[in-house]
Amino acid sequence: MAFSVYRTLLFFAALAVNAEAVELTPLVNLFIGTASGANGGSGGNAFPGAALPHGMAKVGIDVSTAPRQAGYVHDNSSITGISLMHDEGTGGNTNGGYGIFPLFPLSNCTFASCPVGIRDRAALRKAGTDSAAPGYFTTTFTNNIKLEATSTRRSGLIRFTYPTTGPNHVVVDLTNDLGRSFSGGSISVTSAGRVKLGGTFLQSYGPSNYTVFACYDFAAPQSQSAQQISAFGTYQSTTLSAPASITITANATDLSFPFSGSVSPEQAGALFAFSGSNTVLARFGVSFHGADQACANAEEEVPAWDWDAVQGASAGAWEDVLSRVAVDTAAEDATVVELLYSSLYRASLVPANLTGENPYWDSPYPFYDAFFCSWDTFRTVHPLLSLLSPREWGEIVSAYVDGWRHTGFIPECRANTKAGYVQGGSDGMIPLGDFATKYGGRASELGVPIDDLYQALVDTAENTPPDWYTVGRQNTAWKTFGYIPTNWVDPSGSTGLPTREASRAFEYALGDFAVRQAAIALKKSPGDVVKYSNRSMNFKNMWDASVTSDGFSGFAQRRFPNGTFAFSPPNACSPVDPVGHSCARGTDNNVGFYESSSWEYSFFAPHSMASVIALMGGAATFVPRVDHYFSAGYYLAGNEPGFPMPWAYHYAARPDLSSLRVRKVVYENFNTGVGGIPGNDDSGAMAALLTFHILGLYPVAASTQLLLGSPLLSAYTLRNDVLGTRTAVRVVGFDKAGLSAAPPAGAAVFVKSVTINGAPGPSLCWIDFSDIVGGGNVEIEVYGDAAAAAKAGCGPGPRALPDSLETGGFSV
Ligand SMILES: *[C@@H]1O[C@H](CO)[C@@H](O)[C@H](O)[C@H]1NC(C)=O
Ligand SMILES: *[C@@H]1O[C@H](CO)[C@@H](O)[C@H](O)[C@H]1NC(C)=O
Ligand SMILES: *[C@@H]1O[C@H](CO)[C@@H](O)[C@H](O)[C@H]1NC(C)=O
Ligand SMILES: *[C@@H]1O[C@H](CO)[C@@H](O)[C@H](O)[C@H]1NC(C)=O
Ligand SMILES: *[C@@H]1O[C@H](CO)[C@@H](O)[C@H](O)[C@H]1NC(C)=O
Ligand SMILES: *[C@@H]1O[C@H](CO)[C@@H](O)[C@H](O)[C@H]1NC(C)=O
Ligand SMILES: *[C@@H]1O[C@H](CO)[C@@H](O)[C@H](O)[C@H]1NC(C)=O
Repeated sequence: MAFSVYRTLLFFAALAVNAEAVELTPLVNLFIGTASGANGGSGGNAFPGAALPHGMAKVGIDVSTAPRQAGYVHDNSSITGISLMHDEGTGGNTNGGYGIFPLFPLSNCTFASCPVGIRDRAALRKAGTDSAAPGYFTTTFTNNIKLEATSTRRSGLIRFTYPTTGPNHVVVDLTNDLGRSFSGGSISVTSAGRVKLGGTFLQSYGPSNYTVFACYDFAAPQSQSAQQISAFGTYQSTTLSAPASITITANATDLSFPFSGSVSPEQAGALFAFSGSNTVLARFGVSFHGADQACANAEEEVPAWDWDAVQGASAGAWEDVLSRVAVDTAAEDATVVELLYSSLYRASLVPANLTGENPYWDSPYPFYDAFFCSWDTFRTVHPLLSLLSPREWGEIVSAYVDGWRHTGFIPECRANTKAGYVQGGSDGMIPLGDFATKYGGRASELGVPIDDLYQALVDTAENTPPDWYTVGRQNTAWKTFGYIPTNWVDPSGSTGLPTREASRAFEYALGDFAVRQAAIALKKSPGDVVKYSNRSMNFKNMWDASVTSDGFSGFAQRRFPNGTFAFSPPNACSPVDPVGHSCARGTDNNVGFYESSSWEYSFFAPHSMASVIALMGGAATFVPRVDHYFSAGYYLAGNEPGFPMPWAYHYAARPDLSSLRVRKVVYENFNTGVGGIPGNDDSGAMAALLTFHILGLYPVAASTQLLLGSPLLSAYTLRNDVLGTRTAVRVVGFDKAGLSAAPPAGAAVFVKSVTINGAPGPSLCWIDFSDIVGGGNVEIEVYGDAAAAAKAGCGPGPRALPDSLETGGFSV
């Protein structure tokens, strides 16, 4: 990795508190996925700043050019500030979400004429000075001012080191969030160096706005910095018609801009001058309750302004998260190790723990933000939490349930604390069903009100909100037709975007399967089990057997209320769509699929892949159809609907083909460079996906089954602190020749046998949750005999094939 590894290692060696055998935090490369998404760049939108695991504060620098969803882009564009909160890997507004209340250091100006406005102050970084480690970020401007940041959950420290003792200046910016969406707010300044801010800004992905507060303190203890405040004041646009023309007023203490209901270009904030030191240390706190609470958060979490203590605590928290997957870092392939720990890191940045900061309702339950969106995260982020982080997951699941308690529906896309847009199904249902199957019996220990969880699932499966634009599902249609009809006026009067009919049906079916799974796990009424089992098969109602494409027949299609199918080409909205259809949520989407094609969504029934295989004409056509899906370019590595596809061969008893396909997908699409993620990280969805590929696992939605393959590591140990287990997975015959996009013939990449605590496992194709985190030993023997592996399939056992509902799988 190209970013000051050496210095980072030295830093942690010096810190050396309760060091385990190997420090894992230095193995994290925070710059993976930070390449620009402009001009066809990979655009991972990863956030490389300072944050705790699931921290609310995410401090980092912001670039002046869009796209910049997470503020940072690893290019040479100028920097407009260092701000307090960010998203991780999301899409949404290409200008970005959050990025609130930036600071900016200035030297070489006189107070009354400092360039405080966002355009005038922007500065370039010195090449190669961006550096980051878990809990720490730094860069240096070409004028030699160095920026550093570290954080706690809601607070932290920012330090500027200037070339001289000054006077040096710091701008405190009230109005410029990343989206430039200031709609009102206020700032107050004291001569003692306390700044309180509050502002209303627009959501990045949703129709609403949110109000957030911060507190900065500049009166650092002299033991931490010898800085003296030599001047202070406020600034604001002289006139709104030319907002870049700014008036700075020394000794002024207050500015207030009433909430206007529309976005203002106002430039406003505070300016400080410092003398006596070449460093300026700022302490910050953030809150959704008010500026006083933000100050209290800073006082509570950073009482002594002790940089090393804050950074050390953050690094320690990350060490705990990373060590939940233990590997022999010296023995394994160095690239795989770097990808593994960097991915575990990014998969633990969000959802963000806003407990105690819920601005909307009082509740004894945790509050989390950045469910952005469940459509992205249900596939891999939540299953990874279920394996390694059940305590955090319990809080997150509780927060989903609490969302239902106060709105009537399970949240789908909570962005900037407000409901965002629903992409497809109400996919928060799936992690809730998953939780019931894996931790239903430990729910009270994990603080999850499990009967409420079940009611949340049922209500979301049954009721239709007045506006299913931002929450819930169009259940009127689903229950009336058993599919989502095209061109139907919903008699309930409920409104939402009527598009994506076919892909929504597949997701509603999976959501109903999640209710079915919860009903079984929680011993709810047999009637519920029957009902939701039945409805989860309704994806078949979208199947038009008469449609053909590239020699394959049977594809999901939209359907009119009278039952007739509405044709759209199966390759529409695929990466090789010759027409260039609209494929998002909008009413211009006349294809029926969201961010994906019929070629792709027709495979999407993770709970009943045997049904898909049957619809497609059996395994003999299914396997070449999966091959063709990849070779014809219908696969898009950078978007969620493609996630399970490299593993699809498992369901046709060809795990050997999955082993090869997973390697091809990993090595052609992921690497340790800034462009090393094939699309948006999507709140850690890509990171969690890559983690599963490396571990040789893929989670089956809302079930305890994980598809099993040959890992990219020779051994690893999974630690689950709630279950109190360490499970050692060893790959017997592991072959580093298999670590490539196209392993040479004979490379040992095929699973030959699986034993669990010495006894043969049930299958070469899957393993149960209770075994992969059950404690004890899992041995996966691998070999290179492709012909034998093709013949062996999933093995001879009666349950060797992964489960499918229609063929009797997922039985009690
Ligand atoms: C920034 O990088 C681009 C592309 O690499 C280059 O064309 C441009 O000259 C650079 N600009 C600066 C200010 O260094
Ligand atoms: C400081 O500002 C002056 C006047 O704008 C400029 O000439 C000089 O180059 C600047 N010095 C530095 C170190 O930036
Ligand atoms: C601001 O207040 C300080 C301290 O009272 C005073 O010395 C200074 O002249 C004031 N500046 C202006 C521009 O009023
Ligand atoms: C912000 O939200 C308020 C209350 O929900 C609404 O009245 C207002 O129009 C919104 N403003 C913007 C700019 O969206
Ligand atoms: C989330 O924040 C609350 C309030 O500080 C805390 O009690 C809880 O432990 C945090 N959760 C995690 C997973 O750190
Ligand atoms: C679901 O229930 C309906 C109505 O009872 C029935 O007609 C249908 O065959 C059932 N579907 C499945 C897949 O069992
Ligand atoms: C069903 O409805 C569609 C759309 O209105 C129409 O084009 C089609 O002819 C109808 N099919 C039948 C069999 O009525």
